[in-house]
Amino acid sequence: MKVLIHETQATAVDCVAGLFAERLVKQPDTVLGLATGGTMEAVYARLIALHQAGQMSMAQARSFNLDEYVGLRPDHPCSYWYYMREKLFAHVDMRPENTFLPCGDAADPEAEADRYEAAIVGAGDIGLQLLGLGANGHIGFNEPTSSLASHTRIKTLTHSTRDANARYFDSFDDVPRLAITMGIGTIMRAQEIVLLAFGEGKAEVVAKMIEGPVSAACPASVLQMHRKVTVVIDEAAASKLSLRDYYEAVHPEVRAPK
Ligand code: PGA
Repeated sequence: MKVLIHETQATAVDCVAGLFAERLVKQPDTVLGLATGGTMEAVYARLIALHQAGQMSMAQARSFNLDEYVGLRPDHPCSYWYYMREKLFAHVDMRPENTFLPCGDAADPEAEADRYEAAIVGAGDIGLQLLGLGANGHIGFNEPTSSLASHTRIKTLTHSTRDANARYFDSFDDVPRLAITMGIGTIMRAQEIVLLAFGEGKAEVVAKMIEGPVSAACPASVLQMHRKVTVVIDEAAASKLSLRDYYEAVHPEVRAPK
């Protein structure tokens, strides 16, 4: 696990956008795994800027998002379909037919989850997966105690996740109770994973993810078992790491770019 500790959120965001753009230059038809949430908004804004400056094209890429709320139509303003259109797809050269999210309003959500998993497998699995990190350790909507081998399926959201996301809805009660999410096993099949987290509120879970035991109690800790993961964090999110000095010594270029 590569741990890159940035002085600011802004440079952490630039770093993630840079890794993403670099991968697309190397392999323009990469299958991208995309995430939603507050943290990713700044990454997408940076990617749009890179695209507008002619430094990044997504024209040949395909993308699969991690998750979607069960019961929300793609045009619902709180759906992740809507988020992705607003925050990224409408502003870059992604072909709409190459962008995929689970259908939250599918008549049979379980069948939809199976279909989505099969579509990811059919695309050859994810090349580069972007991840945010839930304060409770979730990746995608794989809440604590999710099977570390799980595939795309329906998950019941925890009270704390619904609470964290209530800011996007009119009220807590409007936050759906269920989501379709890529499984942890699905995510672990990605060739390469880049996780971004910042702020003091994530410091504890960042420490558990990187230095804690691998446990379904903190689903993100399973990333310790992946061959190619880059964790990009700011100083606030790094504040509870025991081996922080070591990570900074391994990657001095992060703090003093050449
Ligand atoms: P956030 O969400 O970026 O809004 O903190 C991250 C997540 O829950 O995966």
